[in-house]
Amino acid sequence: MRIPLDRQSTLPLYRQIETALRQGILSGGLSPDTRLPATRQLARDLGVNRITVETAYAELEADGLIASRVGSGSYVLPACSPPPRPPDSPACPPWPAWQQAVHARSELAGPPLPAPAPAPQTISFAGGTGDSRLFPADDFRKVMQAVMRRDGAAALEYGDPRGYAPLRGTIARVLASQGLQAHPDNILITAGSQAALALVAQLLLKPGDGILVESPTYSGALDLFRALRLRVVGIPIDERGMQVEALESLLARQQPGLIYTIPNFHNPTGTCLSSQRRRQLMAVADRYGVPILEDDFVGDLRYEGRAQPALKALDPGGRVIYVSTFSKMLMPGLRVGFLAVEGPVYAGLAGLKRASDLATSNLIQRALEAYVTVGRYQAHLRRSCQIYHKRRDAMLRAIRRHLPAGVRCDPPQGGLFVWLRLPASLSAGQLLPLAAEEGVTFDPGGRFFPDGAAGECAASPWGDCLRLNFAVQTPEAIDEGIRRLGQALRRLAART
Ligand SMILES: Cc1ncc(COP(=O)(O)O)c(C=O)c1O
Repeated sequence: MRIPLDRQSTLPLYRQIETALRQGILSGGLSPDTRLPATRQLARDLGVNRITVETAYAELEADGLIASRVGSGSYVLPACSPPPRPPDSPACPPWPAWQQAVHARSELAGPPLPAPAPAPQTISFAGGTGDSRLFPADDFRKVMQAVMRRDGAAALEYGDPRGYAPLRGTIARVLASQGLQAHPDNILITAGSQAALALVAQLLLKPGDGILVESPTYSGALDLFRALRLRVVGIPIDERGMQVEALESLLARQQPGLIYTIPNFHNPTGTCLSSQRRRQLMAVADRYGVPILEDDFVGDLRYEGRAQPALKALDPGGRVIYVSTFSKMLMPGLRVGFLAVEGPVYAGLAGLKRASDLATSNLIQRALEAYVTVGRYQAHLRRSCQIYHKRRDAMLRAIRRHLPAGVRCDPPQGGLFVWLRLPASLSAGQLLPLAAEEGVTFDPGGRFFPDGAAGECAASPWGDCLRLNFAVQTPEAIDEGIRRLGQALRRLAART
């Protein structure tokens, strides 16, 4: 333990030691049950007399901050460390001016912290990932061990900042099997697709520039674009995806520097951009010279219907930056996503990535490459599709069975989400606490809108909306959860 001591100070050394430890305990840095160094050891480390340290410990013990256990040492007592200081606590001295300036910039306030975990009996349809109970943790552990045996220390070096070359090759082959031609040298591996979105927005746009997004859209993208102080412009979406018919006038009026779109199993609405609109979008964006950022986060989770070509597959070269991820189709904790693009922008993105994080985890990339190459990824994907398909069907059945007739939804052909539209008089924000009382939870729709509408689905003739993740619950839990949601809706309707 390092404690800076000022030997010229009039404050005795034991007080300096006591003060440093007290601050550590009260700030939470030394958490409850932390064992403090033995007095003899600390005295040696600090170059002081052992009695000096013993006196400091005795003071802390007298104040109830630590306790000594016979034969075992001194430990920090529980309930000593308060929660982190609230930003404007009157009891503390004010933050320095530069901290206050950060606090005043609302776009840097960041998104709300993750909601606390729901009560154990609550059935949760919230969140944006697949079911963690299906993650192939054992298989992945074996692959990691095999890679460590095979590659040894090489797996623990930084590695190529563009990404592990064999993994880029594997991704190129997977994309080619989906009709999307990308050379491995045009693929950049990133820490999840969120990092890819951030690189593109940072490279191509500056604060104040416009970015066109579907309204509603992925809330994590909205958080990112707001944090970068971009001007977020929404374009409405219907059951055939982005209303491309409105695009031309928006491009002319708002002059955005980038179009961000989720053409497959859109988050949060689950819709797919129709084939005709894909071609229209490409043509209009090209006419106005605006790049497209295509986010294909769950493209492979298709349960029915014909796949449409990726926008990238319609790109004659360098118009579309394609982004995808292993988070939803495999496991989000891998933090592996990627982008594919040709032209000078690739070098710009690779340079920015290197400057930002040096490289994405080499070990995880090697393990992922081995996992995909031996065919386990494809097998996992097939199994996930079968299971999620059944869960989607279970949710649509439960909605028909348990929810009032005024509630609308368009059945998604894949992905993770069902988007519910409530009758005009009902609010998802008001529904949420009632649903929690019934033992079910979901994501209210307001957070997915670029204008930040706090619950109302702007411009929706149906009133309010909410997102249900059907992938995370078994068919039985889905039926029960939607039954509870129906109860909550009926209670809300009776009140309003
Ligand atoms: C549409 C969409 N894009 C991108 C992401 C980012 O995912 P990751 O960074 O885990 O790849 C998410 C996560 O929920 C998402 O829903």
